[in-house]
Amino acid sequence: MAQFILSSFRGHLTNNATKISFKTSLLRPLLLNNNFSTTPTNNNSIQNITVYGSGLMGAGIVQVAAQNGFKVTMVDIEQAFIEKGKKIIDASLSRIAKKQFKDDENSQKSFIETTWSNIKTETNSEKGAENTDLIIEAIVENLETKQNLFKKLDKISKPNTIFASNTSSLPISEISKITERQDKFAGLHFFNPVPQMKLVEIIKNDQTSEDTYQKLVDVTKRMKKTPVTCKDTPGFIVNRLLVPYLMEAVRLAERGEATTEDIDTAMKLGAGMPMGPFELSDFVGLDTLKSIVDGWRKDGKIDAGLVAPIKKLDDLVKEGKLGRKSGAGFYTY
Ligand code: 3HC
Repeated sequence: MAQFILSSFRGHLTNNATKISFKTSLLRPLLLNNNFSTTPTNNNSIQNITVYGSGLMGAGIVQVAAQNGFKVTMVDIEQAFIEKGKKIIDASLSRIAKKQFKDDENSQKSFIETTWSNIKTETNSEKGAENTDLIIEAIVENLETKQNLFKKLDKISKPNTIFASNTSSLPISEISKITERQDKFAGLHFFNPVPQMKLVEIIKNDQTSEDTYQKLVDVTKRMKKTPVTCKDTPGFIVNRLLVPYLMEAVRLAERGEATTEDIDTAMKLGAGMPMGPFELSDFVGLDTLKSIVDGWRKDGKIDAGLVAPIKKLDDLVKEGKLGRKSGAGFYTY
């Protein structure tokens, strides 16, 4: 899969994102030259956050942090990826501004400008780590790529900088073992769309200190999200339950027992889900789901029946039908 052969740490992007117009671009040159204060704060709480990866998840985390008053640096390896991340943020901010401030254009503008004033961007990964309190990694789901990034950052970051990974499927202990700061390392798992989904899973590995954990709980709450805590177990809470459910829906359709449309309708109208399993699979990305299931199967920690290969899913991914981001998956967009 493309995402596994990328040597970059670029996060996932959707095609939807590239279609969005960069509405406030005139403000951008002024606002993105922000020089954040590096003065330590009195209460030792987290003020400066650096997010690695400007894809859908990374951009969403940057936005939510900046909206809630954190000073955020968005890092990616190429300016083109950063520009896509900015478009994702722009589209989401204008949607929220219109909803919150209805016809009050001044308040809308002020909300958007204030949020952007908290964001700066960086293509130099070392520079991005300078003077930051918390690093959140949201790059490609590849263990080695993540380890390489954290190994580098471990050498140059302040000793008290906390490291967090937004991985959806890789063990936190495996990513963190490459660093000398396993006590300051945890999982911080956000959900798509980040501005809308209220949950953040905080994953403690055996060595995550209580101080690190409490700081992450505090950051999550200041981002107006609800934290839940989970051990470093495959899929954590949400994906451990959600992904087998999505796979079971594909098996149901593959056996010809119901159509994809009827299964989606059933789960929306009969179980109150906002999206049916096929709509949600396309939304999450079929390559992402396949990589989660393949990884679990290799790992051997989850019941084999739950992670058995599914021909339909494998075929779609092979054909490049990855869901919404590629224009087709179970449905065509
Ligand atoms: N930025 C800001 N707000 C957004 C947004 C975005 N990118 N996307 C949606 N919203 C807001 C809308 O403004 C709207 O807010 P309102 O209710 O206050 O008016 C609300 O979300 C609903 O949006 P829409 O009316 O446009 O569309 P829907 O009603 O169809 O909702 C949805 C869209 C929020 C995506 C909803 O279908 C949903 O909740 N789907 C399930 C998503 C889900 O399960 N995500 C988790 C996936 S698993 C995961 O991420 C883990 C990973 O590791 C795999």
